[in-house]
Amino acid sequence: MTSAPDYTEKIPNNVDLRDDRRLQRALESWQPNFLNWWESMGPTLRTQDVYLRTAVNVGREGWAHFGHVPMKDYRWGIFLAERNAERQIAFGQHKGEPAWQKVPGEYRADLQRLIVIQGDTEPASVEQQRNLGATAPSLYDLRNLFQVNVEEGRHLWAMVYLLHAYFGREGREEAEELLQRNSGSEESPRILGAFNEETPDWLSFFMFTYFTDRDGKYQLGTLKESAFDPLSRTCEFMLKEEAHHMMVGTTGIDRVVERTAQLMVENETDDAGPLGGVPLTVIQKYLNFHYSVSLDLFGGETSTNVANYYTAGLKGRWLEERRKDDHRLTDDAYLVDALVEGEIGQTEVAALVGLNTDLRREYISDCQTGVTRWNRILDGAGLPHRLKLPHVAFNRRVGAFASVEVSPDGELLTPGEWAAQKGRWLPTDVDKTHVRSLMQPVRERGKIAAWIAPPRNGINGQPFDYDYVHLA
Ligand SMILES: [Fe+2]
Ligand SMILES: [Fe+2]
Repeated sequence: MTSAPDYTEKIPNNVDLRDDRRLQRALESWQPNFLNWWESMGPTLRTQDVYLRTAVNVGREGWAHFGHVPMKDYRWGIFLAERNAERQIAFGQHKGEPAWQKVPGEYRADLQRLIVIQGDTEPASVEQQRNLGATAPSLYDLRNLFQVNVEEGRHLWAMVYLLHAYFGREGREEAEELLQRNSGSEESPRILGAFNEETPDWLSFFMFTYFTDRDGKYQLGTLKESAFDPLSRTCEFMLKEEAHHMMVGTTGIDRVVERTAQLMVENETDDAGPLGGVPLTVIQKYLNFHYSVSLDLFGGETSTNVANYYTAGLKGRWLEERRKDDHRLTDDAYLVDALVEGEIGQTEVAALVGLNTDLRREYISDCQTGVTRWNRILDGAGLPHRLKLPHVAFNRRVGAFASVEVSPDGELLTPGEWAAQKGRWLPTDVDKTHVRSLMQPVRERGKIAAWIAPPRNGINGQPFDYDYVHLA
């Protein structure tokens, strides 16, 4: 059972932290380091307070509270979804056994690694987004940025709790290092490539929250299946918060496309750039970039590590329990993307080895729903233009296609052809400069920058012109 969090405690939690003094003290000594990190690497724009959602419970109804809070006083806490005492392992060689409440010795190193990799992405995105407050297109957007930031901070707490509670001294050391690595740092970068890229403008931010946070959704989805029950319950609750991040990305891109379409129609032009909008071609290039670097986050098309994680029960498939197979996969085969005699094709592998591809395909079809939605906006405006996801082999730096260059249509290119044409497919310095030139902050209630349409709805039933943020 979980208990209701006590907000008078230093660290709000529903894990009965006060009954474990050692753990409580360890986390309380990590807390000031976290706050130092937040002060030095978190949002740079100074505010008095922000209309934020704070997690206060994990129940089905009413898990969050909304109110204006100074950001440094945000109640980062530790929340695990309710425990199901009957829960059984759903896959792998331990299928049908009770879920683990402790870390089995033989899986300790692997579980710790999985938690550290997930944990590393959370503060990374806060670092990547730290300067965006200066150029927010509205107070509504500013509030959403900060909401995403504080929740990524909470996700760091979620992973650090697991490291402290279940992995002893090594876990505590890893928790320290999560604050030492920094996005884009030369000496100690974040672990995964996409989390060392810049998020210099709001178009990048919306693309990041659509494509890269969505990778997070899929990774959390596989960890939610884990036989290690505390990890499963942690990820289940994180997914709840993650839904808002997806919403910010999806509707953010909706609104950019809507405004661009409007400028194109009103002025009978294909180029919204000179009119103060983001040209549709530039939206497509940003999409190509963020989608392809996010595809890399799923790792190689084949992976024996991931096969082992699955067999051991550490990491399942997306919606494992809805799959209609034996959940062991020891006799199954799977077709994965591959270079076959120098051509883009597919090759058959043992299903266990192809699990990265399985997860990437789930992700790709989810990404397509956004593109379909944005095309509906273009269609509704009477425009024939369409956005699309580039080919899976386009601009890949990890996996089967890392060694080749491929066009968005899936055509293999020579290095020379790629160099000559990549500026048509990926943002150029000229594109980035244009996008940055549009990023003029708008801080008046109810006003919005000219390159983006206002949202259809405010937050928590509040109107768009609500005072979402009080600036310092
Ligand atoms: Fe997160
Ligand atoms: Fe997120």
